[in-house]
Amino acid sequence: MSTVLLEAHGVGYRYAADRFALRDISLRIGARDRLAVLGANGAGKSTLLLALAGMLPLAEGQLLWEGQAVRTGKSRSSLRDKVGVLLQDPEDQLFAPTVEQDVAFGLVQRGMPDNTAVGVARAALEHQRISHLAGRPVHQLSLGEKKRVALAGLLVVRPALLLLDEPTAGLDHEGTETLIESLGSLRADNVAVVLSTHDANLAARWATSVAILDAGRITVQGDSQQILSDRSVLKNARLSPPLTYIAAAALQELFPSSKTWKLPTTPPELEEYIRRIATSQRGYAAESH
Ligand SMILES: Nc1ncnc2c1ncn2[C@@H]1O[C@H](COP(=O)(O)OP(=O)(O)OP(=O)(O)O)[C@@H](O)[C@H]1O
Ligand SMILES: [Mg+2]
Repeated sequence: MSTVLLEAHGVGYRYAADRFALRDISLRIGARDRLAVLGANGAGKSTLLLALAGMLPLAEGQLLWEGQAVRTGKSRSSLRDKVGVLLQDPEDQLFAPTVEQDVAFGLVQRGMPDNTAVGVARAALEHQRISHLAGRPVHQLSLGEKKRVALAGLLVVRPALLLLDEPTAGLDHEGTETLIESLGSLRADNVAVVLSTHDANLAARWATSVAILDAGRITVQGDSQQILSDRSVLKNARLSPPLTYIAAAALQELFPSSKTWKLPTTPPELEEYIRRIATSQRGYAAESH
């Protein structure tokens, strides 16, 4: 079992006095975990990520970081260096005049000399395949470009835990693939990642565990494959199952031997799954002649 970084115990939050936006949230996030928080519009995903970052004054419950109670709300000093948050709207995140300066900002703030920080920022932009944006004014970027720049700015400071609010929304194919690739390499560096999405395809592909959020409460949490194969759980939360799981379930009905195989989580894996069925059927047909 990996080291537990962040725990939430019975966390509740309300924007208005008479209505909870989050209620009774208990979660445990370990180093290297990949947790997807899935929920429909208004379920409370963004609020949950802000709460987990310690940015909201909780109405009830508490957060622990490596077993120590965390002060929440504006001060949040104890989590600032450990937890990075990608906000749903990158407009709220970027503020330096140029992309390069924005990505370097977190490093300069932590005491790195300007020149060194700009060098690190350039490398991060290259890693995200957006070097061409380095000198551009932040306010001129497209939404997807802003998201990728904001992510680069988070990654350079190497937090222990990253909270990403719908990071792929608005990204094109290449942006999404680059993001998933960067998240994969973070795992090797022991960084834990929580991302929110309403896209079960993304969750199936990337997450090891899933928490379903509905009307501010976690209705189910646990193993990603198990939860994402449960259509009634997803339907109750107004979510669609991953397309590759729908296809695999139909194939499993026709070819029961495939029930024990690993479920496909991407289109290429689904193609491979179908090829494997075709091969096994050809073998079967040859034997029965
Ligand atoms: N600043 C705010 N003041 C009052 N209510 C808010 C505020 N922000 C969010 N809410 C309410 O809290 C609930 C949860 O909102 P939240 O933004 O966390 O949902 P979400 O799951 O992130 O939705 P989406 O998929 O649309 O991003 C919603 O009912 C929303 O209307
Ligand atoms: Mg949101």
